[in-house]
Amino acid sequence: MKKISKICCIGAGYVGGPTMSVIANQCPHIQVTVVDINEARIAQWNTEDLNQLPIYEPGLKEIIAESRGKNLFFSTEVDQAIAEAQMIFISVNTPTKTYGKGKGQAADLKFVELCARNIAKVAKEDKIVVEKSTLPVRTAEAIKNILDNTGNGVRFEILSNPEFLAEGTAIEDLLHADRVLIGGDDTPTGKAAKNALSEVYENWLPKERILQTNVWSSELSKLVANAFLAQRVSSINSISALCEKTDANIAEISRAIGFDSRIGPKFLNASVGFGGSCFQKDILNLVYIARSFGLPEVADYWEQVILMNDYQKRRFADLMIQTLYNTVSGKKIVLYGWAFKKDTNDTRESAAIYIADALMDEQAQLVVYDPKVPKERIYADLDYLGTRDPQKNRDLLTVATDPLEATRDAHAVAVVTEWDEFKGYDWKKIYEHMLKPAFVFDGRRLLDTHTMRDIGFNYYKIGEA
Ligand code: UDX
Ligand code: UDX
Ligand code: ADP
Repeated sequence: MKKISKICCIGAGYVGGPTMSVIANQCPHIQVTVVDINEARIAQWNTEDLNQLPIYEPGLKEIIAESRGKNLFFSTEVDQAIAEAQMIFISVNTPTKTYGKGKGQAADLKFVELCARNIAKVAKEDKIVVEKSTLPVRTAEAIKNILDNTGNGVRFEILSNPEFLAEGTAIEDLLHADRVLIGGDDTPTGKAAKNALSEVYENWLPKERILQTNVWSSELSKLVANAFLAQRVSSINSISALCEKTDANIAEISRAIGFDSRIGPKFLNASVGFGGSCFQKDILNLVYIARSFGLPEVADYWEQVILMNDYQKRRFADLMIQTLYNTVSGKKIVLYGWAFKKDTNDTRESAAIYIADALMDEQAQLVVYDPKVPKERIYADLDYLGTRDPQKNRDLLTVATDPLEATRDAHAVAVVTEWDEFKGYDWKKIYEHMLKPAFVFDGRRLLDTHTMRDIGFNYYKIGEA
């Protein structure tokens, strides 16, 4: 196998954008072109003002500043980039299906299939195709089927190289990955392809951390890793409900169990519920796969992780309503945060959306402030739910740019994303602005209980009585 000198990535999103930026930055000898059919998105990746990049990730703009225009390019010329590259990453979105068979659970592969067909149409010489999106097991096989039947004599090797980066720490995670997983056939050409991709990563990662497996193991590992992580969050959230009824404290429990090296301290923060593009989607996928292989017990086991997460989101909204004397109708309530976690502008499956929706059902007047999420995104998320007409969403919810001003005459503030800046706010000032009694509902356990109560707030924190 020739050394890789040209890489193309189809899909300039949360996965493709940061991943390719890091590859280009760490491999100056490789030309990396990221393509997307969305012209506006590519224009944003090419913007002069690096604060206008389509994705907010700490450390990303520095890397783009270094590599863009040298060996990193963003373009809408999909066909040309495919034709020139020896290795093509497919990094397009694979949302949960919203129609037909598997609706609400299976992954929608239409974007992936379109990519495969596009590659089949354009390729004139042998290529390595790498699936980078989260895909259900056996997708590589489907891609291979499409590519092998093009009839133009081109040979394709299909690899699965799942992404384990977490948003908000994407650049760190890519630069210091715990492991890189490369799945492919165990044939001589399959092994050569795996080695070719391994060599790309070896430019900055130790070889021992690059694991080669068969395609199935690689595809399924991604779903399983996310299912295990989400399970930890749902497990600790289930215990947070118990703590709120007793004198046990969730922080003390997390600490106590986390000290057990078999359990470990990470992913034990109780919260309003997990969000993001991966956890729910991947578990639903696992559930769908288990069911379709006739394993209902396995499906039910994993589905419970999702059900617990739905319960946690609902529970938080219910607690707010109950505490505010069982009515929030017409009451001004401020939500701090909309992103699914801090340090990202991604809002997919964010708990905030569901909490806002539940409060709006009770006719609350919401004001949202998030440091990185634009107004249009917030309305788009609510409109997408389809609970009420778009005008009603705009009547019931406004978006603030000044977080302190937003609290004037509010009945309550709810912290739903753990942005660091919320900790540094002048909470005394906020208290003065608000109607009394002033309520704070801390869905991220971000603030100090004593300080908040000393100021005078009626302060509620997930996992504490
Ligand atoms: C457990 C706890 O580990 C210990 O901290 C607590 O004080 C008492 O309960 P024990 O029941 O002795 O200890 O054994 P443990 O090693 O935890 O194993 C429990 C069961 O799980 C065994 O049947 C073991 O075979 C099984 N197991 C354990 C697995 O099947 N797979 C594993 O990876 C680990
Ligand atoms: C996840 C996986 O971590 C990553 O490996 C995979 O590639 C993609 O999916 P991401 O969705 O970016 O990454 O975020 P992650 O940090 O895993 O958090 C997911 C959700 O769980 C967030 O809403 C977060 O706030 C929540 N969470 C996480 C908790 O509520 N408590 C925790 O202790 C940890
Ligand atoms: P992810 O989190 O998986 O990266 P995103 O939605 O952020 O998901 O990004 C996926 C990108 O893939 C989008 O910008 C979308 O326009 C792009 N895309 C989808 N289908 C195609 C296609 N057939 N050709 C090129 N780009 C595509």
